[in-house]
Amino acid sequence: MKLKQEVVAGFARVFNCSPGIVAYAPGRLEILGNHTDYNQGVVLSAAIDRGTVFAVGPLAESAAGICQVHDLRSGDQAEFRLDCLSQPRMGDWANYIKGIVVELQKRQIEVPPFQAVISSTVPLSAGMSSSAALEMSTVLALTELAGVELPKLELARIGQSCENDYVGARTGLMDQITSLHGRAEHLVFSDFRSLAVETIPMPPGVSMVVANSMVKHVLTGAYNERRSRCEEAVATLAKHLPEVTALRDVTRQQLEQYRHELDITAYRRALHVTGENERVFAGIEALRQGRLELFGRLLFESHDSSRFNFENSCPELDTLAELGKSLPGIVGGRLSGGGFGGITVHLVEADHADEFARRLDAAWNARTGKPLQPMICTAADGARLV
Ligand code: GLA
Repeated sequence: MKLKQEVVAGFARVFNCSPGIVAYAPGRLEILGNHTDYNQGVVLSAAIDRGTVFAVGPLAESAAGICQVHDLRSGDQAEFRLDCLSQPRMGDWANYIKGIVVELQKRQIEVPPFQAVISSTVPLSAGMSSSAALEMSTVLALTELAGVELPKLELARIGQSCENDYVGARTGLMDQITSLHGRAEHLVFSDFRSLAVETIPMPPGVSMVVANSMVKHVLTGAYNERRSRCEEAVATLAKHLPEVTALRDVTRQQLEQYRHELDITAYRRALHVTGENERVFAGIEALRQGRLELFGRLLFESHDSSRFNFENSCPELDTLAELGKSLPGIVGGRLSGGGFGGITVHLVEADHADEFARRLDAAWNARTGKPLQPMICTAADGARLV
């Protein structure tokens, strides 16, 4: 793996020795099932062939207990002591690493002082889970360094708690689960109630073209607000439907029946989530029956629902979705991930993918005057020591 070689060479340059442990974790694309994970719903996603490498070794005596992490991509170096991690520093990229250490410490896992080098091919703040890729590569490497082995679900929860409690984004488990369970040429189907994970073959002859709107999405403010609205809808509906503990339990019919009890915003947020759950199940059925066109249509519907019901799209994402829809080879497309910026994903017939990417780039360029450089991604294997 080229990225591993770069990071190992970088480690030798920075620290004058070899790393004992190297871990890799991929980013992910959300294909269907938007904002369903923290509502105990279902998601179809894919780990991709872009990821993060974390290379680590025990700290040299001379470093006096001050851990060092060097980021090859930016050239930044973070330094911290393992006994002074209680306060995250606002906006610090190393919070994702420190937060993992804190979560391991909470579980009585003592990570020895370390020196590390990281690099990544996942674009930052784009909605491709650069943070989960960093968390999962970090936790795999640091548990190995501490001499413990944890189940995947626990590794995912450590990443989620790092985001929720240390970084301050109340995100679900989808990013970490996908990064861990990815499989080449497969989609990952996750059920966030039972926490069961299955892989489903990618439809044959389909490529994933990803377009970065370059609108940076920050998953704290608006994301947390959406999550609160979903909880509000559950609290209201549960007064009439005691079996409802999460939006996962609510059918569209029930939502319509009690619509008058909800304020219009909570209703539309809930409508998005129930619709997304339905679309995931319909999507799996469509794939099983080889009905690619139907699968694609569900992606378009998902985007419209984000746009009008959940209001987590933005003009740039709408433009990309719209431009993609008119190009030859398109199967379906939508925003992917948290939203409020970030990326769109377009499923495209594989033999049209290059041309699709070129034409999307040209159309975006004509519209905005800016380059787009879409990425063609493939579904790839999940996180591991390398
Ligand atoms: C972000 C979060 C996920 C999920 C998606 C939206 O990627 O990290 O947990 O909620 O947004 O589906």
